[in-house]
Amino acid sequence: MAGYGDFQHEIYFKGLSGVKPKLPVNFELLEQKARTAMPESVLSYVAGGCGDGHTQDLNVTAFERWGLLPRMMVDCSKRDMSVDLFGLRLASPLFMAPIGVLGICAKDGRGDLATAKAAALTGVPMVASTLSDDPMEAVAKEIGAGTGFFQLYTPTDRELAESFVHRAEAAGFKAIVVTLDTSTLGWRPRDLNDANFPQLRGHALANYFTDPRFRAMLPKPPEADPATAIMTWARIFGKQLTWADLPWLRSLTRLPLILKGICHPDDARRAIDGGVDGIYCSNHGGRQANGGLAAIDMLPGVVAVAGATPVMFDSGVRSGTDIVKALALGARAVGVGRPYAYGLALDGVDGVVHVLRCLLAEADLLMAVDGYPTLADLTPDALMRVGS
Ligand code: FNR
Repeated sequence: MAGYGDFQHEIYFKGLSGVKPKLPVNFELLEQKARTAMPESVLSYVAGGCGDGHTQDLNVTAFERWGLLPRMMVDCSKRDMSVDLFGLRLASPLFMAPIGVLGICAKDGRGDLATAKAAALTGVPMVASTLSDDPMEAVAKEIGAGTGFFQLYTPTDRELAESFVHRAEAAGFKAIVVTLDTSTLGWRPRDLNDANFPQLRGHALANYFTDPRFRAMLPKPPEADPATAIMTWARIFGKQLTWADLPWLRSLTRLPLILKGICHPDDARRAIDGGVDGIYCSNHGGRQANGGLAAIDMLPGVVAVAGATPVMFDSGVRSGTDIVKALALGARAVGVGRPYAYGLALDGVDGVVHVLRCLLAEADLLMAVDGYPTLADLTPDALMRVGS
């Protein structure tokens, strides 16, 4: 039993001595504040989406079309948000989605480490991206006794992919999340108008530059010739995966294997038949394709075929209420993305912790007020579809 909702008492009591929260507790104000604090190029990369941003926006607004039915006379004095995920007992179903530019979101350039520390402090798992400004071993060290999953962007070079996975295993990550929707980059006008792509400027490539297999591909070490190293990275970054690759991916690790970016029930079925341990329903926050469907609206279809296979979800989660709705629609674990990057940009480790605590407090209090004391109580029957 975690008293996440107690965070609001803490805030109100501190208010009696004139202390207000350092950061806003709601996403709208947090984002506004981050917009004024972040360097323009970093802000654009984080906030921008694919095309005109329609899908990105829809990811958020689609949550409004689901409402939680209040139930009364239910004892909610104790709530339990704990969840079992791949044999891990987690205190809550919240996790941090992989974000590839965390390093430069933080003022000191060490945002991957700060996020890892926040994971350790809160118990909220971090899905650490392949694109990181610190090597995965350093990130794992900061996560410590907390939980970390490693997200793989599969390079075209199989040996390098294998090396990443084996390093992640050795570093203590508890699962491998393979992202499927990024063999090529989506059309991002905001970054294109500024000709701004952080990786080509050498950011977030620490996992490559420290990898023996990657280094063996270079005529000179990255420290001596960064330009060639970056160009080599650009050449090998994105492998076009097909179902024919799934047996190979599965053979890479005995850790739980999760495929990220699955939105169609048929793809979920094929993934499960191919031996994955988890499905991760996400449309990359609308950054990769502007196809026009909100991720939350695709979740029920994926859950319907997933059976006992856990479904992780992200895209558009901005509040504790969104978390509760995604859980009721069948997600086993719910990922937050951009909001924690803004917390990181504004106040480092403390900023990430603040965002996570706010999300968990709001979810916990919604469950308390509306009569759903445990996650098992949150079923599709708890929701009503509003409007069309
Ligand atoms: C991402 N996302 C992402 N996903 C992934 O698998 N590997 C990565 O390295 C990244 N990098 C990344 C950078 C930035 C700046 C953002 C905003 C997102 C996608 C991420 O994991 C998640 O799917 C989205 O962030 C969810 O959308 P919202 O809720 O943040 O809008």
